[in-house]
Amino acid sequence: MIQTVQGLMISRALAKISRAAALLLLMGVQLLAGCTGDKSSNPSINFIELPGARGLLPSMSTANAAFESAHYSGNGVCEACHTDTAVGDARRMVVQTEAGFKDVSIGLAWESSTMAQSARDPYWHAVVAAELNRYPTLADEINDTCTRCHAPMANDLAKKDNLDLQVFDTGSSEDGTLVKGIYTMGDEDALFNHAMDGVSCALCHQIEPGNLGDPSSMTGGYVVTPWENAEDRLAYGQYENPDVVYMKQTAEFTPQHGPHMSDSAVCATCHNLTTTPVDANGEPLADVTHFAEQMMYTEWQLSDYATGGPLAATCQDCHMPKLDKPVPLASAGADTPRDEFAEHTFLAANTVMQSMMSAYQSELGIDPGIDFAPAIERNREFLKTAATLALQDGALSDNELSFDVVVTNTSGHKLPSGYHSRRAYLHVLVTNASGEVVYENGRIDAQTGAIAGVSEDVNPANFEIHYDEIVDETQVQVYQAIVGNPAGERTHSLLDGTGYLKDNRLTPLGFDKNSVPADVAVAGDALNDDDFNNGVDTVTYKVAVDGEGAYNVLVELRYQPFAYGHLIDLFAEFDQIDQVDMFRTIYDNTTLRDEIITTTTGTIQ
Ligand code: HEC
Ligand code: HEC
Ligand code: HEC
Ligand code: HEC
Ligand code: HEC
Repeated sequence: MIQTVQGLMISRALAKISRAAALLLLMGVQLLAGCTGDKSSNPSINFIELPGARGLLPSMSTANAAFESAHYSGNGVCEACHTDTAVGDARRMVVQTEAGFKDVSIGLAWESSTMAQSARDPYWHAVVAAELNRYPTLADEINDTCTRCHAPMANDLAKKDNLDLQVFDTGSSEDGTLVKGIYTMGDEDALFNHAMDGVSCALCHQIEPGNLGDPSSMTGGYVVTPWENAEDRLAYGQYENPDVVYMKQTAEFTPQHGPHMSDSAVCATCHNLTTTPVDANGEPLADVTHFAEQMMYTEWQLSDYATGGPLAATCQDCHMPKLDKPVPLASAGADTPRDEFAEHTFLAANTVMQSMMSAYQSELGIDPGIDFAPAIERNREFLKTAATLALQDGALSDNELSFDVVVTNTSGHKLPSGYHSRRAYLHVLVTNASGEVVYENGRIDAQTGAIAGVSEDVNPANFEIHYDEIVDETQVQVYQAIVGNPAGERTHSLLDGTGYLKDNRLTPLGFDKNSVPADVAVAGDALNDDDFNNGVDTVTYKVAVDGEGAYNVLVELRYQPFAYGHLIDLFAEFDQIDQVDMFRTIYDNTTLRDEIITTTTGTIQ
């Protein structure tokens, strides 16, 4: 979105005012919750009291989104044509739906995705800062690795132009040793503008096809050609024979057919990710070559979605859904409406981060014109497509209620997948004929995000095992990946992880746990659970009840991007690390903690 400086300042001021109002509202809500919710009645949640957070860091600057360099341009340059700012009948990038006209402008869809804001993500800042704190000798590697995918244009610019790139300031201005990081730079710095554009138009669209699908392309191994003349730079897209003249003249990029853009392998450059584990001194381990941190492409490859059968779907098919009506690719200069236009909504799961970004828009330096609410809404709808639930074999005898919950993953990879802080879990509620709750398993605390009965939420060195049968409230089915270090203990650091102590994330359909490579193996008790495989898990619940009658069972599958156990571990360092303090302040002052993927109900008597 391009804004004049003045317009920007006015809307920033407005954003500030509405945030103050929102905070007041929030405080009111929390007070109310404090009056009604009785935490002490449930012994299985232990609240860890942390000292009060110190507050927010100084706000980050907004960036110049319309920057141009020898290699890249900011989204503002592309949006001049690929976001339609016309009004009324002059608008071209709209389609008619049952609900009315829908604006499918590319920049408008992209800008509220977490990819667009990946370098302003306060959780990313906190984790990078924690890793730097833990491994000071690895500062260069951490700055390079962590920006490769989260601030990719800055990382690539730094490599091409031989610049120093670090995330945070080091040294001090007093003794003249200060080296500025992208975190505190302003819009006069090229590295800052490149970084703050996140995973942007000019990065994805310049990825060369050469090494795609090969391991060398993954873990950030995308290749962007350095060009002598700016206008020779290619912007690859899915269409043959694009009209090149207007875009080449105005934006100095040449649109070019690149079938690789429609292939999942282009996403694999950042979404398949291995690390090289290190010991406590930051030295590589002799006997471990790599740790498979995120394997979304490999998981997908081993599923029915990749094999060309009836379920066939690429990453783009699900995350960038195609319109069923033709639409022009640009607001000007694109005369032929094109079929199969791919929406840049990047439908996803992390609404919690989007709500934080929305609440702290000005502090994080996010363009105040961006509205996260529609993105959160469509992601919430998208999450409903991730799984189905069924209740079966319900029985009541000898004061024991028993039933099976069948969970089926209908996403294109493990569920959850991606970053290791994600978890999905089952919440089960049993009520008797008079509506009284007789049993509850997996209850979330709305304020902290802790789940009753989950051991990691009390002590983050522990974790909940995978269950085939659940017989009491301290056993909760949590689908997640738990990273282990060489000593076989749980670790929350990305750099000393060598394998998984538990990986019972629901596998995708078609994925056979008995014949997959080690990098995507199921780990822990789920491996020996016969009814956990091929997209499906069946969990048996046994509940003691008081006599005969009809019992209503409600089951929810819920998704939480920030497992509370991870946060306890991270927040413990808040008084030493500014960015951790900042993230904790944001977390404590926002309210969204998880989402409901799907629900099922039944009556057993
Ligand atoms: C090869 C690309 C790549 C590299 C290198 C990389 N990341 Fe990421 N990171 C990702 C992707 C992709 C996601 C999103 C996954 C998801 O949504 O589950 C992500 C997500 C995250 C998140 C979660 C953000 C959120 O809001 O939930 C954190 C924290 C994070 N990364 C930290 C790091 C740190 C620290 C480093 C450096 C040690 C790093 N990443 C290096 C690709 C990368
Ligand atoms: C994460 C990578 C990524 C980012 C970021 C991205 N695109 Fe795309 N874009 C794609 C892919 C992939 C396709 C082709 C989709 C397909 O074939 O299914 C595409 C297609 C297009 C097309 C052709 C029309 C269409 O929708 O199919 C245009 C034009 C385009 N992108 C412009 C942009 C602009 C402008 C931005 C920034 C505001 C942007 N893209 C950001 C990956 C990206
Ligand atoms: C001056 C207007 C203008 C600007 C600015 C502009 N484009 Fe385009 N773009 C177009 C037009 C016109 C087309 C061709 C439409 C057609 O043939 O249907 C196009 C096509 C594309 C395609 C589709 C190529 C294909 O063959 O599928 C991509 C991708 C693309 N642009 C990306 C970008 C990116 C990235 C930027 C910013 C660096 C950008 N555009 C800036 C006007 C523009
Ligand atoms: C240059 C690296 C890069 C490329 C290429 C890339 N991604 Fe991402 N993607 C990221 C990073 C980094 C994040 C995490 C951002 C954050 O949360 O801070 C992410 C996040 C996402 C998310 C949001 C996940 C969530 O938890 O909500 C989706 C969806 C996604 N990417 C889809 C795609 C698709 C589809 C493609 C291919 C068309 C693609 N990405 C290509 C780096 C990349
Ligand atoms: C059949 C549709 C489908 C396909 C194919 C698919 N996804 Fe997803 N994806 C989903 C759904 C639904 C979710 C939300 C549930 C979840 O978090 O897994 C999701 C979630 C994600 C997330 C967030 C992960 C998390 O749990 O936080 C990322 C990142 C992502 N997908 C990237 C990709 C990439 C990269 C590919 C291709 C290799 C891909 N997806 C293929 C449907 C799909």
